Amino acid sequence: MNRIAILTSGSDAPGMNACIRAVVRGALYHGIEVMGIRRGYGGLIRGDIFSMTSHSVSNIIQRGGTILKSAHCPEFMTVEGRQKAYEQLMNHGIDALIVIGGNGTFEGALHFYEEFGVPIMGIPGTIDNDLFGTDYTIGYDTAVNTALKAIDRIRDTADSHERIFLIEVMGRDSGYIAVQSGIAGGAEMVVISEDPLSTQELVDTLKQGFNRSKSSSIIIVAEGETKGTAATLADQIRKQVDDKFDMRVTALGHVQRGGTPSAYDRILASRLGLGALEGLLDGTINVMVGIINNQLVYTPLREAIDRSKPIKNELLRMVNILSV
Ligand code: F6P
Repeated sequence: MNRIAILTSGSDAPGMNACIRAVVRGALYHGIEVMGIRRGYGGLIRGDIFSMTSHSVSNIIQRGGTILKSAHCPEFMTVEGRQKAYEQLMNHGIDALIVIGGNGTFEGALHFYEEFGVPIMGIPGTIDNDLFGTDYTIGYDTAVNTALKAIDRIRDTADSHERIFLIEVMGRDSGYIAVQSGIAGGAEMVVISEDPLSTQELVDTLKQGFNRSKSSSIIIVAEGETKGTAATLADQIRKQVDDKFDMRVTALGHVQRGGTPSAYDRILASRLGLGALEGLLDGTINVMVGIINNQLVYTPLREAIDRSKPIKNELLRMVNILSV
């Protein structure tokens, strides 16, 4: 293996830059050339490919986003798109591809491997933490901390005005950010689609809290919750309690995707980046690199995509016990 390429695809996540840096510097250490591909699979199809040096990744470890840019690419989900991408790889003499992203990124990569035999290494980069084969994904810790800072601030004003706040956090159809930020933020309730609470349960818990002299409450709602967004949930609660509670809704949105990566994410990204590179050099392909119980592991891409990583019930139980 003489020359590899790296791209970021799908939603960005804080720590992706630290990971790119680790791949590039690791490759140069092992005497391998690295090509950067801009704008994900779309950039690969168009040949938006450039040579990376140690200097290309200087001063990026602390930056959120991705210097390679990212995008969703429906064209790569077609055989014709992947054929064009393969031709670009051949034209640039690229022997293997490292992709940083989530489920959709790996799905495309897997087709690419199966059709053209291109050696692939996946690195889990998504704030959602919804990938099997790693305890944590790059960007998740930073996103939880960003959500937490907002929750703490909302708690101040919720307390002053004796209000109920429903705070919607990201996670697509995964409740990881909601549960962790809810525990850390001392939320009264956490609503996730994996373990939905009925409106009645929410109302009952709120009333019980207020009967025990709570004057404000924080409910964290994962955006993928089956009943819809926090705003919809707030409307449903209002219908059952009339004007009894003064309620507000805040959706944190994309603020959770940006910002300086936490120390944890930078270290995770560095370990996964070097682990990905060295795995490839050892001939480990068609896998996603991850860290489980502090050990580097490689999981077949198919398994990483298909298997779920359920949220531990003990975490939800803890929210209930500790928020009384
Ligand atoms: O997958 C990361 C994520 O931020 C999800 O939490 C969210 O549902 C989604 O991406 C939003 O995607 P977009 O930025 O394309 O609207």
